[in-house]
Amino acid sequence: MLKDIAPLFTDEFNGTYNYRGIDIESKPITYMRDNPQQKGSGLTKEGQKMDYSEIEDNDNDFTSEEVKYHTRQKHKFIECYLNIWTENVDSEENRQNKRVPSLDIIDLYAASGLVTCDDAKEYHAGDYQWPGSALLAAQCLENYSFPGKLLLNSYHKNPEKCRRQYDALNTNIEKFRKIRNKIEITSQTIEPAAEWALRQINPKYPNIWILDPYAVSELPWSVVEKIGTNWGQYKSKGKNIVRKPELIITFMTPDLQRNITKNPHIISDAIGISESEWLPPYLEKINRGEKINARQYILDLYAQKLSAMYEKPPIIAEIKSTGQTNIVYCMLFLTDNNAGHYMMKLHGLKELEQWKIYQWNHDAKIITTKKNNDKIGQKDLSEWF
Ligand SMILES: C[S@@+](CC[C@H](N)C(=O)[O-])C[C@H]1O[C@@H](n2cnc3c(N)ncnc32)[C@H](O)[C@@H]1O
Repeated sequence: MLKDIAPLFTDEFNGTYNYRGIDIESKPITYMRDNPQQKGSGLTKEGQKMDYSEIEDNDNDFTSEEVKYHTRQKHKFIECYLNIWTENVDSEENRQNKRVPSLDIIDLYAASGLVTCDDAKEYHAGDYQWPGSALLAAQCLENYSFPGKLLLNSYHKNPEKCRRQYDALNTNIEKFRKIRNKIEITSQTIEPAAEWALRQINPKYPNIWILDPYAVSELPWSVVEKIGTNWGQYKSKGKNIVRKPELIITFMTPDLQRNITKNPHIISDAIGISESEWLPPYLEKINRGEKINARQYILDLYAQKLSAMYEKPPIIAEIKSTGQTNIVYCMLFLTDNNAGHYMMKLHGLKELEQWKIYQWNHDAKIITTKKNNDKIGQKDLSEWF
């Protein structure tokens, strides 16, 4: 049975957090600009003011990822699977029988490693800062008896944001002392980053890939296929066993709904199926007056495509908006390993559901109610003036 260890945050944003026994120091990081001539509004290491005005999205300093509260569910999904490794694979019994394999984790969309939710902070509900995928992965390996490599890629298309995100990740990851010499961090677009990581791992041993883009266009099918087909072979009890990488994918379904007829090539690139194969059947159904859910249609195709590479279909968790009115995206988990598949299905998803019922739903409701009240309040106020 999996333990339910709720995250515990003990301090303000500018301080130290304790997350499952690990202190995470989270200080707003300050940077020197390459060009010190520019006038400023932030602080350099020396305390001088600097200007980030040319950088869009100014209120996000990229030392942590600013997210909506629904994102908490994504990280819980990742955590629930990684818990299986630290609590079930790395069990006393397996250790005694020398059955704990080494484990590599690769996070190709690591960002800064930390996330912050302004709504949770403003409305005093739930956690307002928590570990992102990279810190969850680091935490898993730090607690695991035979940690392999932790390979992280932190990229942003804006060079200045990229630098801040990358520097923040380096700082945030420093805490994990036990695995310090196992961590490698790079900053590249997804295609070379995937090649970089594939070169470094031995596919004979378990390897978990976290693929968490913002948009479907940031994770082309060609990359998923390259990673998913990097199989290793080993012998167990005289039998040849094929090991496949384990994948955790964030599938951004709003993109699909938006682009299904406007930019179908975006969908084709993401799911690896040519437009002529998936679009005409979809349009035919629409023309026949069939009620068809675009999100579900593309998700089914994607799941079929992934199932063709793995012997098992993906385990899917739908992530609902904080107001719980719509599905914002889906988390997919893929493995060919029987134990991993069933542990995630039976224990991981159960842990996720219970956490949602007893913790997340409650906080999400507070945030939604207070937000709605604020909106009504603002409307009343504007009617006065
Ligand atoms: C949803 S965020 C990742 C959040 C992170 N996994 C976490 O849990 O905190 C997506 C990240 O992918 C980066 N990104 C965007 N396009 C990319 C690309 N083509 N290649 C690699 N990373 C990209 C973004 O800059 C951003 O840092």
